[in-house]
Amino acid sequence: MCGIIGIIGVEPVAGRLVEALKRLEYRGYDSAGVATLERGSISRRRAEGKLNNLAARLESDPLGGTIGIGHTRWATHGGPTENNAHPHATAKVAVVHNGIIENFRELLADLATDGYLPKSQTDTEVVALLVTRELDNGLGPEDAVAATLKQIRGAFGLAFLFAGEEEMLIAARKGSPLAIGFGKTEMFLGSDAFALAPFTNSIAYLEEGDWAVVTPKGAVIRDFEGNPVERPRTTSSASALLVEKGNHRHFMAKEIFEQPETITHTLTHYVDMAEEAVALKDRLPFDFAELPRLTISACGTGYLAGLVSKYWFERYARLPVDVDVASEFRYREPPLDRGGVALFISQSGETADTLAALRYCAAHGQSLASIVNVPESTIARESDVVFPTLCGPEVAVASTKATTAQLTILAALSIAAGEARGHLDRAKAHELVRALVELPSAVSRALSSEGDMERIAKRLSKAKDVLYLGRGALYPIALEGALKLKEISYIHAEGYAAGELKHGPIALVDEAMPVIVVAPSDELVEKTLSNMQEVSARGGKIILITDEQGAETVGHGVADIIIMPKVHPFVAPILSLIPVQLLAYHTAVMMGTDVDQPRNLAKSVTVE
Ligand code: AGP
Repeated sequence: MCGIIGIIGVEPVAGRLVEALKRLEYRGYDSAGVATLERGSISRRRAEGKLNNLAARLESDPLGGTIGIGHTRWATHGGPTENNAHPHATAKVAVVHNGIIENFRELLADLATDGYLPKSQTDTEVVALLVTRELDNGLGPEDAVAATLKQIRGAFGLAFLFAGEEEMLIAARKGSPLAIGFGKTEMFLGSDAFALAPFTNSIAYLEEGDWAVVTPKGAVIRDFEGNPVERPRTTSSASALLVEKGNHRHFMAKEIFEQPETITHTLTHYVDMAEEAVALKDRLPFDFAELPRLTISACGTGYLAGLVSKYWFERYARLPVDVDVASEFRYREPPLDRGGVALFISQSGETADTLAALRYCAAHGQSLASIVNVPESTIARESDVVFPTLCGPEVAVASTKATTAQLTILAALSIAAGEARGHLDRAKAHELVRALVELPSAVSRALSSEGDMERIAKRLSKAKDVLYLGRGALYPIALEGALKLKEISYIHAEGYAAGELKHGPIALVDEAMPVIVVAPSDELVEKTLSNMQEVSARGGKIILITDEQGAETVGHGVADIIIMPKVHPFVAPILSLIPVQLLAYHTAVMMGTDVDQPRNLAKSVTVE
């Protein structure tokens, strides 16, 4: 996750930009840079590697100026070289960026026809070139940014510095967080309040789609349509805490809203974004092509992520997968062929049952692979290969951002397996990777329908029981929806494969039972329609989670519809987690439960 900082100061800013970037080091990065205005002109210093390299560069070649932007880059498109480091600049504008510009290739091709050519391999530089073209066409900085934001697709946080504008920075947010800091005589921008802590604790957070013109007088914030909006100013306690809630009431909400960023961050570790191809960083101690079977064990939400991946591995790689709840696996004494591969999925990396399953597999000659969020955990240490989820600490007991990161890795691994086993040709693999690259911006759009979830949560909070239904790879999402609702709202919920409804659970359906159907448009959606009709016929109230196309096909006669962005069916299970997480969250808030630390539950379950 890249880090962004901006200062409109009254004294030289280069050193302070680097100091602030140091507070963002925890986000991970592989190059860094700053840009300031020296006598009105943009000047930059950039360096590969750690901030010490940038500081040394600034010492030997100092940078003046009282306004500037800085950036720590986690390489996505193009290697971690000085030339690819941010800020990217022309003579007129410098830009720093966190996230992905999905349509940068098309935009670069268009810019090239007007003679605007990139010097780096990044997706970011297209933004600097687009703004420059608008400025060259006679627009002022604000209009040039507004016009550029309309052209770019993806998930991003952006900060702009303009030649000749000693008192103006512009910031924009869609998917990657940005905070504005209000000083006494100075103004600041940062990826989070923690970066701004030495300067100010008076913070306003940009919301999805917002962009802001920041001057020493304050900030004018507009929504995506350009309408002026007010965002509340809060007093941050970030100076004391690295992990804090930002402008969210609970860690769970913060972690749900971090997902466009955490998915991007994780994705860049497994996918070459420029090539749009899977590129695993570590050599695997096994060959997917030779595997007869993959054995997956995990608990709770990790188990459900494993279940989704079974659909992917079997469909795209024709690789048979066994998925088990670890507490069952460990005592079942399953026969395992020597030389097989066992995969363990755990946020904490300390879950006792999952660890016991791992040790059973070790004793039975399996290669051990794990997906964990805590790299120094026991499961990670005892594995032959570790696939890290790069989403930072997850504080809320209910897992959210770790789950979408686990699924992102499993999706990349299933593409790698499909290619290795000769079941995915290059074009199909490319199509699936493209779907993953486009996922963070779809997640960010899905998060903007939070209001719908809040409204529906009011109804859910009155229910005694809730049923979740899904088919195919959406079936585990129905299970996860029910698990999330149970664990934080304490409302009884069950998840079922939609086709199983008539084999028992339909007996529960009556007017008082909300039935949440997860059914984005795909090849199975019409089958789910039959199940929905079975529910309606018995007076059940359906809440349908789908996309526009799904709503047209199966949305008639339901009590409520939650419309998600249309994505490739491959990544629909990951996207569908967003509404089920938000529904559970808002229901719990309405019930007044302890959302982050629900009763009887622990974040890391180190006992049997
Ligand atoms: C998820 O919301 C739960 N809190 C729980 O099911 C969790 O996934 C399970 O305990 C496994 O934990 P782990 O991922 O740390 O192994």
